[in-house]
Amino acid sequence: MKKENTENITTLLKENRLFHPPIAFKKAAHISGFSTLQKLKKTGQKNPELFWAQQAKNLKWIKPFKKTLVWNPPFAQWFLGGKINVSENCLDRHLTTFRKNKAAILWEGEPGDTRTLTYAELHREVCRFANVLKSLGISKGDRVSIYLPMIPELPIAMLACARIGATHSVIFGGFSSEALKERNVDAQAKLLITADGGYRKGQIVPLKINADSAVTGSPSIEKVVVVRRTGESVPMVSGRDFWWHDLMKSASPHCPPEPLDSEHPLFILYTSGSTGKPKGVLHTTAGYLTQAAWTTKHIFDLKEEDTYWCTADIGWVTGHTYIVYGPLANGVTTVMYEGAPLYPQPDRFWELVEKYKVNIFYTAPTAIRTFVKFGDEWPNKHDLSSLRLLGTVGEPINPQAWLWYHKVIGGSRCPIVDTWWQTETGAIMISPLPGATPLKPGSGTLSLPGIQAEVVDKTGKPVASGQGGYLVIQKPWPAMLRTIYGDSERFKKQYWSQIPGIYFTGDGARKDKDGYFWIMGRIDDVIKVSGHRLGTAEIESALVSHPKVAEAAVVGRPDEITGEGIVAFVTLQGGVQPEPALSEILREHVSKTIGSVARPAEIRFTDTLPKTRSGKIMRRLLRELATSHQVKGDVTTLEDFSVLTKLQTSYEEEEG
Ligand code: PRX
Repeated sequence: MKKENTENITTLLKENRLFHPPIAFKKAAHISGFSTLQKLKKTGQKNPELFWAQQAKNLKWIKPFKKTLVWNPPFAQWFLGGKINVSENCLDRHLTTFRKNKAAILWEGEPGDTRTLTYAELHREVCRFANVLKSLGISKGDRVSIYLPMIPELPIAMLACARIGATHSVIFGGFSSEALKERNVDAQAKLLITADGGYRKGQIVPLKINADSAVTGSPSIEKVVVVRRTGESVPMVSGRDFWWHDLMKSASPHCPPEPLDSEHPLFILYTSGSTGKPKGVLHTTAGYLTQAAWTTKHIFDLKEEDTYWCTADIGWVTGHTYIVYGPLANGVTTVMYEGAPLYPQPDRFWELVEKYKVNIFYTAPTAIRTFVKFGDEWPNKHDLSSLRLLGTVGEPINPQAWLWYHKVIGGSRCPIVDTWWQTETGAIMISPLPGATPLKPGSGTLSLPGIQAEVVDKTGKPVASGQGGYLVIQKPWPAMLRTIYGDSERFKKQYWSQIPGIYFTGDGARKDKDGYFWIMGRIDDVIKVSGHRLGTAEIESALVSHPKVAEAAVVGRPDEITGEGIVAFVTLQGGVQPEPALSEILREHVSKTIGSVARPAEIRFTDTLPKTRSGKIMRRLLRELATSHQVKGDVTTLEDFSVLTKLQTSYEEEEG
């Protein structure tokens, strides 16, 4: 798609197939039938506050809330006057029911080791670790960085923070020490929780080594807790570093949940935007939990006996909301897998689905496209008949991959919920309800009850159906981000300034004649690689931090598997030769600086970058070049056309 000009996007994709909810599924669903959904949507439309207040009342409150919403655009406060604790809602609430001894987490490590934690066991571990946090001097309002692999200690640490009112900031284990440092510093975190290492694709990720070099530059970090995962020997700094298992030995399993204000900060999660510095998206307590719990229950149509598996990493928002808080608030059994999807073979996911008899499976389009490539024989080796519902998240899914998922994984019997949302929205905003909404492959269908999404032009006016425009949210919603941590000005500018009072998602979209949303991708400089959101500016600044690089411009080009691939156009410092070896060095440099997720697929050296007369790099042209190897778009504002000719020629030469 052309990113700068969403208004003029015409739709190439005509997807007319409709998939109605299977009769048996519909009969048993929490929200059954399209007319039921329409009624709910009507109520939600008329009075979203009332709709969400009703959902909030399903949570356990220490003190009931008095006021549903105070809206001082763009600052929202939900469920004011109430006291509540997220960890009590995810754990204690289940202990007085038969769920006490129900599996909360079925965990499998990449090497094949397993652990099961019942709700009672998880509660015990969380209480003990909450006491550990207190003994290390952490109290309400302090920030705690968590840099762990996908092991049970990760949700335990998050829930322990929530229990005492500390604010967690989870940093994806694939991020580098630089990225970790930047996040520690921005959040002014007092404590870091990490591990000796983690397993990924059969290798050990040296988390503690990364953490050590990050902590050197993070003066606010006073102490480090280290989980023993791999057993590798790692350096421990006396007085600063403590083993998790040592601290837990003497910790009491009793820790009453702290009564917290509804707007108490629950977590910060850093995400990429169109400028270099990652944004600390701040989520608070009651509103977040309300929407997390409601969406998980209804979109995944959770039943007491379900085994639910979301394959995301908890380092991203999907893992926060749909592995930890949403499922546990609903008392469901959730599967958690540590490793890579293709390890040791491309059927690891299907092996796990068969082994744990997974009923609900939620993954990313990039994973689905990878599985398509490996062929049907891998899923066909396994009995996937336990599956009854599938989901996707993180990027648009192409109808071809959707149809494969539906047929080969879902045996043509499982509805697919294509869920649109963002780190900032905290929870799903646009999605089918599987027992109610007829599906169209590639569309997230309709906004949820209580959510007002629209496609508008630059002035905020809704565009005609079939027309491309900007996806916006017109009214506050409970799980919305409250601000960017420490930078309210950026919060206002980033999301609320394009159309005053209306939340700007940064996505292009269109609605079809049935009101179904079709997401067309980002309109800003954000690239989605394998569903991971990366800011071009961040990658560019990593490149420029190399002494041989003068300037860099990074764009995304479509990639069959990963959605987008990163192409970096690089100009070198005077006198430096663009040798092929330098390409690899720079790719490695980016990987070290940000993390391997950001490693460019391709580096192209150029003498200069195409710029406007005012000196702005014309990424649109570079995107076109990277995609089609030629430029047909408007070049009238380009200062020096010869730059483009040279780049175009270099592609032509390669192609012979
Ligand atoms: O562009 C949209 C895309 O992912 C962006 C949000 O990325 P992130 O904050 O990392 O959160 C990902 C998981 C919620 C959105 O602005 N996106 C997310 N879900 C979909 C999607 N694009 C199309 N279809 C989706 N279902």
